[in-house]
Amino acid sequence: MKRLLVTGGAGFIGANFCHYWSAKYPADRIVVLDALTYAGNPASIASLIEHERVRFVHDDIIECERVTALLREERIDTIVNFAAESHVDRSIEDPQSFLRTNVMGTHSLLEAARSAWSRPSSESYRFHHVSTDEVYGSLGPDESAFTEQTAYAPNSPYSASKAAADHLVRAYGRTYGLPCTISNCSNNYGPYQFPEKLLPLCIVNILEGRALPIYGDGLQVRDWLHVSDHCGAIDLILTASVPGETWNIGGSSNDCNLKIVEMLCELIDAAFTSEPELAKRFPRSAPASGRSSRSLIQHVRDRPGHDRRYAVDAGKIARLGFKLQTSLATGLAETVRWYLENEAWWRSIVSGEYRRWYERQYARATP
Ligand code: NAD
Ligand code: TYD
Repeated sequence: MKRLLVTGGAGFIGANFCHYWSAKYPADRIVVLDALTYAGNPASIASLIEHERVRFVHDDIIECERVTALLREERIDTIVNFAAESHVDRSIEDPQSFLRTNVMGTHSLLEAARSAWSRPSSESYRFHHVSTDEVYGSLGPDESAFTEQTAYAPNSPYSASKAAADHLVRAYGRTYGLPCTISNCSNNYGPYQFPEKLLPLCIVNILEGRALPIYGDGLQVRDWLHVSDHCGAIDLILTASVPGETWNIGGSSNDCNLKIVEMLCELIDAAFTSEPELAKRFPRSAPASGRSSRSLIQHVRDRPGHDRRYAVDAGKIARLGFKLQTSLATGLAETVRWYLENEAWWRSIVSGEYRRWYERQYARATP
């Protein structure tokens, strides 16, 4: 039986991880620590909190003393660190908050683990740090996929802050013997993703009849992975990896942004054709007025320093036993369905701060 601290558990991947872990390991203790920034939404784990499957603690990973006390009080043996500022565009506007949480926050969490764990190097403990493939930088069209040996070359304040955190985690493993693992994962999609990221942004904008902003030519390539596969991979690392290892996780998909958005448009148009009541629920959407969702696609000014291509060589974790469960086609269809069925979840987000951010972004991006 494990006793987990899931930081950032009210965010997209952290919330999915709590649902995954609680269903698979019902006897385990899960404590979520989350600062509830704009990206944190306790509604994503409300059912788990209500049924006492998760204890929710509203706090910041940078608060070392309080986190140390929580680790002791709850006798935590496993930390899974999802807490981060995670959106590249926001890191371009406000790098400071990325350094604070992603670098200083991760450092505080490492210190808290080192103080709270009586024999910090004991293998009965685990500090798992969730990172990104973006630390490796951008690939040319013919370059081979990122392996765990690829040199770090981050290009955005976001990826630079994640790279710094990865180095600290590695250093705490080497210097203090803290049993750490790191995973570097490709772009995730699925339920509960904040609608500032490409896929949920486009789904919500199609339903609202708003433009689908494609940065530059839209030929940038990402390796899309369904979030449930990411959770499965972290499970495998926690249960089967020795400390000191890093693991790349990817979805083996390599379509460009424009193609992915076109796939979403087709899925939503098909749903409106087969379910006429959708036009009543979403009267501002393009398909409700007989237009294809693709007509909303609009090329806008490119993101500064935009990485052209990511691709992950996930051979190492495959040899540990990881198998992808969800294909891109199935995963996108399920994700569209989830946003159609969970309108209340995203409606509560797309107002206030979100609206102001989005309008600022959009004004800046329009050529
Ligand atoms: P997210 O932005 O949806 O969620 C982040 C969560 O962390 C939020 O709940 C937020 O409130 C919380 N948080 C932020 N600052 C905090 C702080 N100082 N203390 C405590 N909690 C804080 O992010 P996500 O997409 O779920 O990403 C989770 C992790 O996975 C991040 O570390 C990210 O770098 C990494 N990652 C994300 C992707 C992706 O495609 N989304 C891919 C690879 C890796
Ligand atoms: P995003 O979801 O922000 O993830 P990341 O930057 O971490 O890869 O973006 C995915 C891709 O989609 C990236 O190449 C940027 C692009 N993009 C757009 O073209 N338009 C948008 O409005 C957004 C948010 C992203």
